[in-house]
Amino acid sequence: MKPKNQHWATVDTYISNLFNPQDDILDAAMRDSMPSGTSMHNISPNQGKLLHMLTLLCKAKNILEIGTFAGYSTIWLARALPDDGHMITLEYNPAHAALAREHLARAGLGTRVTVHEGDARDTLAQLRNGQTDPFDMVFIDIDNKQLYLPLLEQIVPLTHPGTLIVADNAIRDGRVANPNETDGSVTGVQAFNAALAAHPRLMATIVQMVGIKGWDGIALAIVQE
Ligand code: DHB
Ligand code: MG
Repeated sequence: MKPKNQHWATVDTYISNLFNPQDDILDAAMRDSMPSGTSMHNISPNQGKLLHMLTLLCKAKNILEIGTFAGYSTIWLARALPDDGHMITLEYNPAHAALAREHLARAGLGTRVTVHEGDARDTLAQLRNGQTDPFDMVFIDIDNKQLYLPLLEQIVPLTHPGTLIVADNAIRDGRVANPNETDGSVTGVQAFNAALAAHPRLMATIVQMVGIKGWDGIALAIVQE
């Protein structure tokens, strides 16, 4: 992967070397989620650490993730769960889901995490009908950014006041600030960000980030009464 800005990447790596000990399980999940070697659809190690810490702050016992990929972010999130905690992660691509199950088993998280294969919209509809406990923490990182907004509408009813919702790729190289964008992967995020801002039950903001993935960011929302 070629970082877009070498200084950002160097400092990102400096931070990661300081705070993220060598971890064969995470490294393998990272390798398997970069099949093309050119772009990183995964979160970075420092973003993983941040998600882990946010999950601990939430004292999350039930986590929902949308967009599992090879399970890299899943491992960071699930490792913040207490022994009686549980995580559900949704993945469209069966090959990715199989890969994630392997990595989760190797991480000793095979029983703590359930990987649901299929269209996230269908799985969320099933969860809503199935009387699941509300989620304490939700992480959205599905590849199809045009689904962010419709998924949000389905997620909020599965939460409780105090639930933290985090979404990756909120900045997209700064393109979200361009009102003339036509690329669906950007307009999808713009629509999602605007919906977070307008939602009567969400308090939200966006943190922009630079690092080994270039220039992007995460949206954060807390569910209100
Ligand atoms: C890309 C990056 C992501 O974090 C993601 O979730 C999807 C796509 C990308 O760089 O194209
Ligand atoms: Mg992402």
